[in-house]
Amino acid sequence: MYEMIQDTIVSRRTIRKFYPDDVPLHTIVEILEDAKWAPNHKFREPWEVVLYKGDGKGQLIDQVQESIVRNELDEEKSEKKKEKINQFINEIPIHLVVYMKSSESAKERHEDFAATCAFIQNFQLLSWSKGLGVVWKTNGFIFDPVFREGIGLEADDVIVGMLHIGKPAVIPNPKERKSIKNSLTICDTAPQSKKEHSSSM
Ligand SMILES: Cc1cc2nc3c(=O)[nH]c(=O)nc-3n(C[C@H](O)[C@H](O)[C@H](O)COP(=O)(O)O)c2cc1C
Repeated sequence: MYEMIQDTIVSRRTIRKFYPDDVPLHTIVEILEDAKWAPNHKFREPWEVVLYKGDGKGQLIDQVQESIVRNELDEEKSEKKKEKINQFINEIPIHLVVYMKSSESAKERHEDFAATCAFIQNFQLLSWSKGLGVVWKTNGFIFDPVFREGIGLEADDVIVGMLHIGKPAVIPNPKERKSIKNSLTICDTAPQSKKEHSSSM
């Protein structure tokens, strides 16, 4: 079991080049059903998902392009970005917007964001184990409240990621990760004050 999970975690790569082959909707729904077992505080299950496929991709393209026009003042750059996004979304079979409601409590927002990230990573790992590739993106337009309303969310909803999904055409080589020893602090001695207290007795 450990080896299977380890292999999935270590071998998964972010995929940026996809085959245009269709991905059945039921496969994505099945993966989402399993990804929902992510840990989440008070069982709020904060994740919400909007899925775009087929002709529905046009709705996403329209809203992203409108956000680009609002935020990119250089007209030439804007046209290039619009064409790039049109091609990108059309060429990839499935797109997910994964978002959460924004709680008024900072603690709940923190927990819900963390849980939604865990949900996304579950989704990425399960997709990988089924031979599907995913790129998790956080493009500028997800921070545009007018974009969020344009796709039917509340202006203050939090988009945690755009996930683009398909059959991997290119699997990139992994970039080296530094040893966890660089990020690990081990505390295994009694507190200083207690030590002093016990030695004086
Ligand atoms: C929160 C988050 C946001 C990301 N945003 C982007 C993005 O906007 N564009 C992109 O190309 N990749 C994005 N990525 C993918 C990372 O670049 C990728 O995970 C990283 O290069 C490591 O590669 P690996 O996933 O193959 O290990 C994002 C990943 C995470 C976790």
